[in-house]
Amino acid sequence: MKPRDRLRIAAQKSGRLSDAGRDLLARSGLRFRESRDRLFCYGETEPVDLLLVRDDDIPGLIAEGVCDLGIVGRNVLREQSLEYARRGERAPFSELRTLGFGRCRLSIAVPQDFLYTGPASLAGTRIATSYPALMADWLDRNGVKAEVVTLSGSVEIAPKLGKADVICDLVSTGATLAANQLREVASILDSEAVLAGPAEALQDERGELAAQLLRRLDGVLEVRD
Ligand code: PRP
Ligand code: ZN
Ligand code: MG
Repeated sequence: MKPRDRLRIAAQKSGRLSDAGRDLLARSGLRFRESRDRLFCYGETEPVDLLLVRDDDIPGLIAEGVCDLGIVGRNVLREQSLEYARRGERAPFSELRTLGFGRCRLSIAVPQDFLYTGPASLAGTRIATSYPALMADWLDRNGVKAEVVTLSGSVEIAPKLGKADVICDLVSTGATLAANQLREVASILDSEAVLAGPAEALQDERGELAAQLLRRLDGVLEVRD
């Protein structure tokens, strides 16, 4: 990786964390010039640029050194950290700050007629989720053997389609579960937006830029509490 003298922050292009994430950066004094494709936004007030991407790509971009910081859900970060852990490796990224917005939980939900009395009720079932590592880890910790079916989206319709017996997905208001006649029975992770960064401190000028940005961010987050 060539040394860079500008810091690069990755954030979700469109989705639940986009607006609050942009707002937080603005309150930390960062202004960006939007490019025509809107994927790369040049920082006008500081040598800090913004890259708008899919949230699932953010940990990987930090791992590769393409971006230095990222605003991402803890659910995405933990899932990808666990993938490293399960291979016996240390994740090259870590959670630096909790940002206090985008709160939700990763929960197991079952059809209305499913009898759930505890984790053991899931033995032998097929569980649809976009978070296979978090799910497998929870099953291991609870000593339950079940089949994890990985789906990248529309997890909530898997039971109706006969692709799975139960699901594990993010729940915020609960409207999606209600609309699909599913009942939340256990939460496996509390999530919210976090600031992610490399596990090893940044070298060159970016280290100082990142420290400066964290100080400003802390100021903004403190006011908010
Ligand atoms: C999440 C999750 C549910 C929904 C839950 O999806 O997968 O579909 O939010 O929220 P609710 O409890 O308020 O209904 P999201 O819309 O974030 O996007 P994705 O499924 O495309 O990742
Ligand atoms: Zn996503
Ligand atoms: Mg969804």
